[in-house]
Amino acid sequence: MNNFSSRTLWRLEHCARLLKTNHSRTAASNTSFPAVWMLLAQHSGRIPGPFVVVKKSTYFTMPETVEDKTNPELYLPHPGVRGMTVLDREAFKRTVLVPALKVKKEIVHHVLKSLKQSVLQRPGLKRVVEDPEDEDSRFVILDPHKVPEFSLGEAEQQVLRQLSVHPEVCRYQLELSYENFKSEEILRAVLPQGQEVTSGFSRVGHIAHLNLRDHQLPYRHLIGQVIMDKNPGITCVVNKTNIIDSTYRNFEMEVLAGENNLVTKVKENNISYELDFSKVYWNPRLSTEHGRIVELLRAGDVLFDVFAGVGPFAIPAAKRSCRVFANDLNPDSYSWLLHNCRLNKVDTKVRAFNMDGRDFLRGPVREELSKELPLLKEEQKTAFHVVMNLPALAVEFLDVFRHLLVGEPCGPAALPTVHCYGFSKHSDPARDIQERAEAALGTSLAGRCSTVLVRNVAPNKEMLCLSFQIPADVLYKRPCPDEAKPASKRLCTSQDSSEEKVLS
Ligand SMILES: C[S@@+](CC[C@H](N)C(=O)[O-])C[C@H]1O[C@@H](n2cnc3c(N)ncnc32)[C@H](O)[C@@H]1O
Repeated sequence: MNNFSSRTLWRLEHCARLLKTNHSRTAASNTSFPAVWMLLAQHSGRIPGPFVVVKKSTYFTMPETVEDKTNPELYLPHPGVRGMTVLDREAFKRTVLVPALKVKKEIVHHVLKSLKQSVLQRPGLKRVVEDPEDEDSRFVILDPHKVPEFSLGEAEQQVLRQLSVHPEVCRYQLELSYENFKSEEILRAVLPQGQEVTSGFSRVGHIAHLNLRDHQLPYRHLIGQVIMDKNPGITCVVNKTNIIDSTYRNFEMEVLAGENNLVTKVKENNISYELDFSKVYWNPRLSTEHGRIVELLRAGDVLFDVFAGVGPFAIPAAKRSCRVFANDLNPDSYSWLLHNCRLNKVDTKVRAFNMDGRDFLRGPVREELSKELPLLKEEQKTAFHVVMNLPALAVEFLDVFRHLLVGEPCGPAALPTVHCYGFSKHSDPARDIQERAEAALGTSLAGRCSTVLVRNVAPNKEMLCLSFQIPADVLYKRPCPDEAKPASKRLCTSQDSSEEKVLS
């Protein structure tokens, strides 16, 4: 089986919760296809071929001079816009012939109700227009896709007869302008023919964030302007200009249209965050995953968030009355984390740190676990969770847990649970991330870990979350049998437990 088909099979199996490697499942809902803005979708905007061979009807509201008599591209803007790089909204105007029904004004609403499926629905276009020659009548504009060849189907004709409306369709000369076209129709008309227009963007507060392909770059300012025009609330459009920065996971970006203000406010799972999108990491596609992890926590639990960003795990956890230790190496993330803790009134429940993840685990995390775990009583249900969302690197940090603590191991229920994120391009991503984690921890996780597919990052790249309780023999330094011997003759020689090799 080639890599592609085995990956496809893996995803199908995974979604069916049938993974081979231990217990695996997909994230609670649609995390691999979260709610992103995909408005530049592929859509031809063409009407069916038969439309062009219509027989002339008896009704004409205007002389028959418009250009679309033989033109099937009803919903395409004027062809003259092709290649435009500076947006000229006037140039999009065109006139097209569409089917319409002439009806008495008293029964317009009955007709609209009965022919709901066939009535024209376009942004900014009236469905009912006046008849300049008869003030007691109106024209109900129909959708030429639904009423091909200017003729209604038998069922619709019958409905009209019941309303005493003559079911004859006439032609109406409809003026279309920039406002009436959808963004994909505009961009399809402007960008070079035959090249892909499809492009997603994610929305972060008032910012639309694009990731344009090379052939789209000459049109980037026009694309930005169209997105802003067509999406109320978006006042700034940016394009990613480099691959993601490896340290702080933020992008370099160019403002394509609108205000040059990247400080924004977002809401996720009913919690507000403020952040500077040019300086910190924020991904609206992770909201389900943040919610999933937070759902696992109960009041009184302790959360260590090693790569916290601006707080999308830490703040909701604190809101659930957990004690939270949140860390981020990026000084801007740290500042926004503090800001968001204050904004959400959880600053007394979150201790924030600005250090490398390794130092955080070896410092505050070790200190807290060493203090709290020995005090836990059997009946106490406090759980300790460690979240590590730095998918490109987090697995490499897992070795820190080796012999992080010394002394008598705590009971199995109290062992901290790690949720470690990773990317994988492997044909069996769950096995891949598990094996990498096992190598870092120096132990097998078979039968004691689970994986969740968080999202599909690229055609051949998955983001996963591996969760496991740290095995006691990994977390605790074993007492050395020959502890009593002089240092020079001991087998265990490391001064620092975290540097010590696992002796098996
Ligand atoms: C992928 S983001 C995740 C942020 C947040 N947890 C979320 O889910 O949106 C990873 C974060 O790790 C931080 N980071 C990168 N390297 C780090 C390191 N060595 N130690 C601590 N934080 C680091 C980045 O600044 C970034 O905020």
